[in-house]
Amino acid sequence: MEASLTARDRVGIQDFVLLDAYTSESAFLDNLRKRFHENLIYTYIGTLLVSVNPYKELDIYSKKQMDTYMGVNFFELPPHIYALADNVFRTMQSEFNNHFILISGESGAGKTEASKKILQFYAVSCPSTKLLNNVRDRLLLSNPVLEAFGNAKTLKNDNSSRFGKYMDIQFDHQGGAVGGHILSYLLEKSRVVHQNHGERNFHIFYQLVEGGEEDLLRWLGLERNCQHYSYLVQGGCAKVSSINDKSDWRMVQKALSVIEFNESDIEHLFGIIASVLHLGNIKFVADVRGYASLNNNQEMHWLLGIPAQVLQQGLTHRKIEAKAEEVFSPFSVDHAVYARDALAKAIYGRTFNWLVNKINESLANKDSSRKTVIGLLDIYGFEVFNVNSFEQFCINYCNEKLQQLFIQLTLKSEQEEYEMEGIEWEPVPYFNNKIICDLVEEKHRGIISLLDEECLRPGEATDLTLLEKMEETIGGHPHFVTHKLADQKTRKTLERGDFRLLHYAGEVTYCVVGFLDKNNDLLYRNGKEVMRQSKNAIIKHCFPSTEPDSKRRPETVVTQFKSSLVGLTEILMSKEPWYVRCIKPNEAKQPGRFDDVLVRHQVKYLGLMEHLRVRRAGFAYRRKYDIFLQRYKPLCPDTWPNWKGTAAEGVRCLIKHLGYKPDEYKMGRSKIFIRHPRTLFATEDAFQVCKHKLATRIQAKYKGYRVKGDYQKQRDAATKIENCWRGIMARKEREKRAWAVKVIKKFIKGFITRNQPACNDNSEYLAYVRQNYLTRLRENLPKTVLEKDSWLTPPPIMKEVGDMFLTPAVYSRKSLVLKAQTSSMFKGKKENYPFSVCRPFVDTRIGAEDINIKVLQMIQHEHIKYSVPVVKYDRNGFRPRLRQLIFTQEAAYLVEEAKIKQRIDYISLKGVSVSNLSDNFLILHVTCDDIKQKGDLVLQCDYLFEALTKLSVIANKQNYIKVVQGSVRFDIQPGREGFVDFKSGQESMVYRAKNGHLMVVSVKIIKGSC
Ligand SMILES: Nc1ncnc2c1ncn2[C@@H]1O[C@H](COP(=O)(O)OP(=O)(O)OP(=O)(O)O)[C@@H](O)[C@H]1O
Ligand SMILES: [Mg+2]
Repeated sequence: MEASLTARDRVGIQDFVLLDAYTSESAFLDNLRKRFHENLIYTYIGTLLVSVNPYKELDIYSKKQMDTYMGVNFFELPPHIYALADNVFRTMQSEFNNHFILISGESGAGKTEASKKILQFYAVSCPSTKLLNNVRDRLLLSNPVLEAFGNAKTLKNDNSSRFGKYMDIQFDHQGGAVGGHILSYLLEKSRVVHQNHGERNFHIFYQLVEGGEEDLLRWLGLERNCQHYSYLVQGGCAKVSSINDKSDWRMVQKALSVIEFNESDIEHLFGIIASVLHLGNIKFVADVRGYASLNNNQEMHWLLGIPAQVLQQGLTHRKIEAKAEEVFSPFSVDHAVYARDALAKAIYGRTFNWLVNKINESLANKDSSRKTVIGLLDIYGFEVFNVNSFEQFCINYCNEKLQQLFIQLTLKSEQEEYEMEGIEWEPVPYFNNKIICDLVEEKHRGIISLLDEECLRPGEATDLTLLEKMEETIGGHPHFVTHKLADQKTRKTLERGDFRLLHYAGEVTYCVVGFLDKNNDLLYRNGKEVMRQSKNAIIKHCFPSTEPDSKRRPETVVTQFKSSLVGLTEILMSKEPWYVRCIKPNEAKQPGRFDDVLVRHQVKYLGLMEHLRVRRAGFAYRRKYDIFLQRYKPLCPDTWPNWKGTAAEGVRCLIKHLGYKPDEYKMGRSKIFIRHPRTLFATEDAFQVCKHKLATRIQAKYKGYRVKGDYQKQRDAATKIENCWRGIMARKEREKRAWAVKVIKKFIKGFITRNQPACNDNSEYLAYVRQNYLTRLRENLPKTVLEKDSWLTPPPIMKEVGDMFLTPAVYSRKSLVLKAQTSSMFKGKKENYPFSVCRPFVDTRIGAEDINIKVLQMIQHEHIKYSVPVVKYDRNGFRPRLRQLIFTQEAAYLVEEAKIKQRIDYISLKGVSVSNLSDNFLILHVTCDDIKQKGDLVLQCDYLFEALTKLSVIANKQNYIKVVQGSVRFDIQPGREGFVDFKSGQESMVYRAKNGHLMVVSVKIIKGSC
């Protein structure tokens, strides 16, 4: 095959088309067997999938497997049902047309399982939205419900579908599953009232009895014991180990709620199931006249809310209309049992149809946009029991029809393909089962016609008269034998009431007994009337009063079935077919057992050999040019790595290089056809060898490409960083230059306007000139202040400075020394210091004449050095008072008029605190040991810097002056402390704060404003 396969995948051949001995049944079987023993249950014949039931769980249906098969070319991976499902889906999407997958095989071969797997695959692989998930869940969950009501344990299969099912899945143009529709075919109703030994009734009965909640059972009048119900015990196997009725019950409950069954629907539905069980338990006894009467009325109570009297009458009498009169004719016991069973079958059958319709309502997509459809046909398989009856006849007829469809479609499509590709068609002999279909369905002569005639004709028609009629009419048909018509040898294998049909799938002997009854499926008229009185909504719906009570008989069962099959054929013919052929490996339902005879038989009747022959008649392998070229182009240097021309030319070139001989292949219009598998194998083997070499080369190239890519990325990154960096540097340079230009311009402007009054244009220039001059002056100070001529000539804007220098007070060396000292104490420490620089210091701020004479007398001997007006703040209450502060050689005096308020000896002066802000406060800290002594002084002085500089010089206490931040603690008197808090604000204020501190607020001075 085309994919890189593991050793296990290579077991046998994955596509029978590639089998060399394709005409040999044994080779076919060998391949199936080999693969089956390796748990490889799927094998292709072209696009047909053969599936062998493994009878065990295989780990091949996981989500991972689904992902693997999603969107992958059909032949690229080992055969799988997912590959087929995916291929159908993708073909549908690309061609926007309808398809169906016909799943066939005998009972127990795995059809239903296959259809579930396909549905699950679509559920996972299709696009999902909340709405689509809803539809998806309903599609998935319709299965358990339909299986519960329509499947049963038979001898062949513990979960045998007793109805045919065709399910359409509708997809929108994006491939979302948006809706669905189910058609059901001929439910085997007879199972409701009768089961062969080893078989069961429909699952739902057992699920209800085993799994139903106590309350529900009580409400339905049921007991949790299947043995109590005569409709459940005839097969003698109510319990089956492979079936868990309880958990299946829960599943059905969940499914019903998802498929929008409301509570009353569910109640009514199970009311019906219970009623059927009760109906089965109704017994009749013969009265004195031999007529049937009911011997116990217990069950009547539970029957669908129908009045007991009405029901009793309905079960024991038949209504006959004679002229204008209605007469009730009593039943014999047998007749009553027959009527009861007929009623049970009718109730169940109609309820089943109601159920399918209800599910369809829930799956219906009301959107009218165009949709494409994939149909899944899971219909009962060909069945052969020891005793085969009417049901098997219908089922096998259905299989005959489908086989015919299969032959038509496969041959047709094959023929069409050759024609389309312009390749000569070589007809293949095959068995056409039309002859058998005709035997069954031909008008007037076919078995169905004869059966209907016999059912409908007046007079005493019986099953045996039917047999005679068949012998008369079709006795000479090669596919029909009866005891009477058979040769001696065959006669031994036939009973008198038997007829045998030679189906395409083998011989089946049918027992004619019951054919007429089952075909008539008569429900006495008053049976319907009785049902109409039911209070159960479903029953009311199933037995509508509008149903014509015509005296004409309704269509027979087989005729209805035949018409439904015609309808089905029409549905299928309008779609593209795909096939899954299921094979049952053994009758014992055991894993690992491959019964050659059984499988050979199925291979034969499923027409697999014929299908293979048809596929191989011309060419074993065909593939579109582009796909073939894409895969094998590495084998030819001209086509590798890229072919420039058309795909067909490329393939021609490739096969020339490979040395294909002319009779080994044909070139069609769009495909190459290869006659022998060995040619393809040789090509494939060459490809496998070449692939590894190529892989190495591709790897090397790829690695080189990656490394080169990385390098280029790094280089690009480096260049980018460089560019960015250069950009940044250039921008900085540009800013610098712009700044320089501005500065130079301003300088020039300043120079030009230097002699004008200070303005914006010249302010910086003048500052520069000033600074320049002062710097120079610092270097060139005259030796003595008396050398007036040796002062550097100041620039015109500093004329006043020049004048100042000539003023002895100002330019005196002493004064400058003091200024220098002030600077060292306060520069950069106190905000308003810069304002003081230009204010020249004077000797004193209060002349001797302004000091009170008495004071003068008291302190004059200490030599008054400096005096200045101050505001003194009371230590208690902080009231401001104007005072004079006088520094003598010995001490500082605080004076009020003629009174000396406080004398502070310089020795007892501990320190002086000022704030770092722009206020003029100073606190003189004194040493006071005596409690009677006054404490520290809190003063405000407009000439703060001058006064403090003087004090520091006079008292020689430079280091005592501290510039502090925030708050200053002071002694009100020894042992009692007070605080002055400093802060900046919008305006200057001095007040006593709530906390008792003196709050001094000063205006914030922004740097550079002075
Ligand atoms: N792919 C599978 N993997 C595992 N078990 C399988 C598989 N297919 C079938 N089986 C087993 O075989 C049993 C019968 O399969 P299924 O019900 O699909 O048969 P069928 O062909 O539908 O028969 P019928 O015609 O009676 O309905 C299943 O219940 C299951 O146990
Ligand atoms: Mg089935």
